Amino acid sequence: MKSDTAVPVKDAPKTDPRLKLIAARIKKENYKPDALIEILHTAQGAYGYLPIEVLTYIAKALHLPPSRVFSTVTFYHFFSLKSKGEHTCIVCTGTACYVKGAQAILNKLEQQFALKPGQVTKDNKLGVQVARCIGACGLAPAVVIDNDVQGKVNVEEIIQSINEKTGIL
Ligand code: FES
Repeated sequence: MKSDTAVPVKDAPKTDPRLKLIAARIKKENYKPDALIEILHTAQGAYGYLPIEVLTYIAKALHLPPSRVFSTVTFYHFFSLKSKGEHTCIVCTGTACYVKGAQAILNKLEQQFALKPGQVTKDNKLGVQVARCIGACGLAPAVVIDNDVQGKVNVEEIIQSINEKTGIL
């Protein structure tokens, strides 16, 4: 049953579509603490890992002590608290982004940096990950470079943006 004091979706931070996606999932699950694992899967699917501030948001929304959320994350090996690499490029491979060219983006990243999803460069500067959907389908294809969500991008723009942030090329 929904709690009267649950964090409403409208109070989710507005700038990051991934947080809206998580907020919508929490609402769909009726703010039930029992749905914690499913919600964590949604969050990791969107971010590629579980940032601390996102875990704090989930704990608050479900009225769970943060310690319970953290212990769940550390118990299951498929959850990760860290992004791979100093900088991260997350390519959304959800349906809308796939149709609009996500695979071509992944191919270019592999060709340019010799990186497949889940890998990092030898100097640990850049990691590439995939997400199932980051909640910005209207902007497909979407990528997130560090915390910067970029939509309707082409491969050249992504390479340029990565280079601006990392100086890798
Ligand atoms: S499928 Fe890429 S943002 Fe939804």
